[in-house]
Amino acid sequence: MDSPSASSDLSELPDEFKALVEQATAARELAYAPYSDFRVGAALLTADGKTFTGCNVENASYGLSICAERTAICKAVSEGHKKFRAIAVAASPLASPCGACRQFIVEFGKDITVITFDPAAPGPVKVWTSEELIPDSFSFE
Ligand code: THU
Repeated sequence: MDSPSASSDLSELPDEFKALVEQATAARELAYAPYSDFRVGAALLTADGKTFTGCNVENASYGLSICAERTAICKAVSEGHKKFRAIAVAASPLASPCGACRQFIVEFGKDITVITFDPAAPGPVKVWTSEELIPDSFSFE
């Protein structure tokens, strides 16, 4: 079972993370999830204060589906951003990032704040660092 470093309430988040939560909620509306019907949105905050959003994009060949978190990260990296402060993930019911996404997030830093929440039940949020979600992650170092 996941052990978030902090189970918190939306109202207790710093303002910049509240904004991130709103952007992830909006991104979730764009999810393409006709197979699972499980819609996920993500919003990624860069070190210089920009936000990149993402949603899950599924495929009839199920294994090709991509998660919201990785969509957001690929958008940011392909636009020249590699330093990230936080990522918010919207799913209902609340879901923490899958293993592939954890490895993908930690690639860009061990101290990225990961926030998950359920936009249909706003209130409780879970907060971790990227390293807490995937200790001893793979790297070449
Ligand atoms: N999904 C995400 O977008 N992020 C995760 O971290 C977990 C799962 C998506 C993938 C798939 O489209 C749907 O949720 C059901 O697994």
